[in-house]
Amino acid sequence: MDASCVVRILGSAAGGGYPQWNCRCPVCALAWDGDARVVRRTQSSIAVRGRSGSWALVNASPDIRQQLLDNPPLQPRRASRDSPVAAVVLTNADIDHVAGLLGLRERWPLRLFATQPVLAALSANPIFRALDEMLVERREIAPDVPFHPVPDVEMELFPVPGKAPLWDEGEEVKTDIEDGRTVGVALRGAGQGDWAHYVPGCAAVTDAFRRRVDGTRLLLFDGTLYDDDEMIRLGLGPKTGRRMGHIPVGGPDGSLAAFAGCAIARKAYVHINNSNPLLISGSPERREVETAGWLVAEDGMEFAL
Ligand code: MLT
Ligand code: MN
Ligand code: ZN
Repeated sequence: MDASCVVRILGSAAGGGYPQWNCRCPVCALAWDGDARVVRRTQSSIAVRGRSGSWALVNASPDIRQQLLDNPPLQPRRASRDSPVAAVVLTNADIDHVAGLLGLRERWPLRLFATQPVLAALSANPIFRALDEMLVERREIAPDVPFHPVPDVEMELFPVPGKAPLWDEGEEVKTDIEDGRTVGVALRGAGQGDWAHYVPGCAAVTDAFRRRVDGTRLLLFDGTLYDDDEMIRLGLGPKTGRRMGHIPVGGPDGSLAAFAGCAIARKAYVHINNSNPLLISGSPERREVETAGWLVAEDGMEFAL
């Protein structure tokens, strides 16, 4: 039988993609040099469809055009104006998750779903008026209330700790805000059993979050940095992962340890920064997460639910 719900990874990298245009860190250098241990990745997004074949994008990455070119099921096939993409759901207002909305401005009816703080961030940026409000309806979603972005797919948005978008940080930056500015997405075929979870940005794994995902069928989780100080150590920037609103993968306080006691049928890291050694097939860090049952997501990977 056809799966009730299919999740396709459109972009598995964090902001900047892999390799990043202006980076020759040790991991990016492998991609620039064509090393067989790495593959290129576009920026953070998934697509979800139910049985009807309409797709909901979760996040609209700056690489959206490349992603639609790379994924034939998301291409027009019926009429002179057509797309199976019917909805966009946002997990925050970061540039890697919303800039792709501007790539969808060619007068196609879409429904846009996000929490109040994320919709407010879009409204504060007049450039998003390029999406004609007569065609692109913005729907505010309350935390933990189910909705159907396309008729046969059910989702819930649940707040996770995070911070304001980088472009809107202000002077004092708190990374533990849980007001819906950063959310995870629970998803399943409408009414079809157990939930899957997509969480591309998360500053800390709370007990409530752990309870939510324990025993479920799929977790796609924030794998931005392996080590909290990885970017500082490599001379790439002054910030830790935590300061950027991302819990690291490794270490005693990392996500690998945080989920170690959970029974989750399938687990994959997404939103992976170009500096992260998880990107290198066979690296010690990659072997460590694989031994713990995690996949490292690649663009084009599909999960049937
Ligand atoms: C993040 O995930 O921290 C952001 O995407 C950073 C950015 O806006 O470049
Ligand atoms: Mn990001
Ligand atoms: Zn790099």
